[in-house]
Amino acid sequence: MNQPDNTPLLRAQTPGATVKIAPLTPHHARQAAQLHIAGQPGTFLTSLGPEVLTIFYAALPSSPVGFGYVIPTALGEEIAGFVSATTSTGRLFAELGLRHLGRFLPPLLRRFARQPQLAWRSAQTLLYPLAAGGHGEQTGAPTAELLSIMVEPAQRSHGLGAQLLDALCLECERRSIVQIDVTVDATNAGARRFYARHEFVEMRPFQLYGRAMCSYRRTLTGGRAR
Ligand SMILES: CC(C)(COP(=O)(O)OP(=O)(O)OC[C@H]1O[C@@H](n2cnc3c(N)ncnc32)[C@H](O)[C@@H]1OP(=O)(O)O)[C@@H](O)C(=O)NCCC(=O)NCCS
Repeated sequence: MNQPDNTPLLRAQTPGATVKIAPLTPHHARQAAQLHIAGQPGTFLTSLGPEVLTIFYAALPSSPVGFGYVIPTALGEEIAGFVSATTSTGRLFAELGLRHLGRFLPPLLRRFARQPQLAWRSAQTLLYPLAAGGHGEQTGAPTAELLSIMVEPAQRSHGLGAQLLDALCLECERRSIVQIDVTVDATNAGARRFYARHEFVEMRPFQLYGRAMCSYRRTLTGGRAR
């Protein structure tokens, strides 16, 4: 982070190097969708396809409750990884439904026609904030939910994920957020190890889309991780 704009691409590939990190913007949406699909094969959101995910990642940073960071490559045209979060999953879903439904609906309906079970899973997604439970919206404390963190497969294990997470935590500190929650597919051992290594504590298992999920929480003190 805080590198000059001419940070070479190699920096992103050098284990342990500090990389340039920039805010997630709608401009990154298509690539974020591609990284999401590469990073989460076989999951519900991936099954909605690149078109729906691109609309989602374009809408997210435009929302007052959405934010995230990317690691741009030297040319600035591509990203090596990104992290996205919301300060209110419920408000984010409501906003997506109210403001962006016209854009989501055509590609969603095409997907539902091909795979009708996706319609039911989409309905489950709308109820997801209740299924995951325990988020700060219930206590009134300012909290965030980490929605996705994805690093381009060839660039993993060089510390990029850790730097994206650090950037997110710093922004949470700026916003006086007291905890970050994240939901992980129980079979995603790599991500679970990643969160455990970064001070996330396993909270409780629950079911979503017929799959076992785990919620994790990282407590922040004045925005800083304990
Ligand atoms: C989870 C994910 C984002 C982590 O990104 P990453 O860039 O590989 O993360 P890091 O490099 O910081 O840490 C990953 C591993 O690299 C190791 N590592 C970190 N810095 C390193 C360095 N400088 N040199 C060598 N290895 C390093 C860590 O020890 C860690 O090892 P572990 O897997 O045994 O815990 C990435 O694996 C990914 O995109 N996964 C697919 C998508 C996904 O499942 N996302 C989470 C659910 S939303």
